[in-house]
Amino acid sequence: MKKIAVFTSGGDAPGMNAAVRAVVRGAIYNKIEAYGIMRGYQGMIENEFIPLSSRDVSNIMSKGGTILKTARSKEFMSKEGRKKAYENLKKIGIDGVVAIGGDGTFTGAKVFSQEYDIPFVGIPGTIDNDLYGTDYCIGYDTALNTVMRAIDNLRDTAFAHNRLFFVEVMGRDAGFLALRSSIASGAEGVLIPEIPTHLEELHLYLENGFKQKKSSGIIVVAEGDKEGGAYEIAKKVKEDFSDYSVRVTILGHVQRGGSPTAFDRVCASKMGVEAVKALINGEKNIMIGNRNRDTIHVPFEKSIKCHKAINQSLYDLLSVLNV
Ligand code: F6P
Repeated sequence: MKKIAVFTSGGDAPGMNAAVRAVVRGAIYNKIEAYGIMRGYQGMIENEFIPLSSRDVSNIMSKGGTILKTARSKEFMSKEGRKKAYENLKKIGIDGVVAIGGDGTFTGAKVFSQEYDIPFVGIPGTIDNDLYGTDYCIGYDTALNTVMRAIDNLRDTAFAHNRLFFVEVMGRDAGFLALRSSIASGAEGVLIPEIPTHLEELHLYLENGFKQKKSSGIIVVAEGDKEGGAYEIAKKVKEDFSDYSVRVTILGHVQRGGSPTAFDRVCASKMGVEAVKALINGEKNIMIGNRNRDTIHVPFEKSIKCHKAINQSLYDLLSVLNV
């Protein structure tokens, strides 16, 4: 293992820079040359490799986003694209690659490894936190805090106007961000793809004296909710509860930025060094995960294929807290 390359791929997530820094420093510590690949798989295909020294990754820990930039590469889904990427990796003499991203990133790495002999190790980096095999993905904790602070702000104006707010959060087709942020922000309800009965539950909740107990409220809606997004749901609620003053806020990409929390920085640093160690030990096609604070290695096959379940007890907590 003489040269390692690292790249970021898919939706960016706060803490990716901390992971890049840890991979570079972990490589240099083990007398291995480090390279960055710009713009994920697309940069691998277009030969955008940059040597990275220890100094090149100074002062990036507190920065959101990724200094290596990211992209979603359709070209890498083709054999020709992967061949170009392989030729570029071989030209530089890359012996191992660390891929920081989500399930799309690891799917690409798995397909590549079936055609070429360069080992890939993955680090879970997505605010969706939807990767199987790890409790936490880099970026999730920061996004959680961003959503919580945004809802705290909305709470003020909802109270001032006696309004019911529907707040749509990211998560693609998972409800992890929506569920945990609803608890953290004291929301009156949450709608997530994993719980199909939630609209009836919401109607029941609003019918059973919500108005007597509360003059305003916040309902968090996961963007991947089966009933459609926050606008569709708010429309349905307004039809049945015409006396409510309803508003909708879509938080959008603000959830992807911001300076990473301490949790994300530490998690990313541990995973980055662990990924280099795994490559040195001859491992490949695994994702570095954490489970109950232990670091574990999860085969890409599992992290992509298996479905990560929602924490039902956390969901049930909301009903208790909104008695
Ligand atoms: O996967 C991260 C994520 O932020 C999802 O939650 C969201 O649906 C998607 O990326 C948005 O993708 P884009 O940044 O390409 O609009």
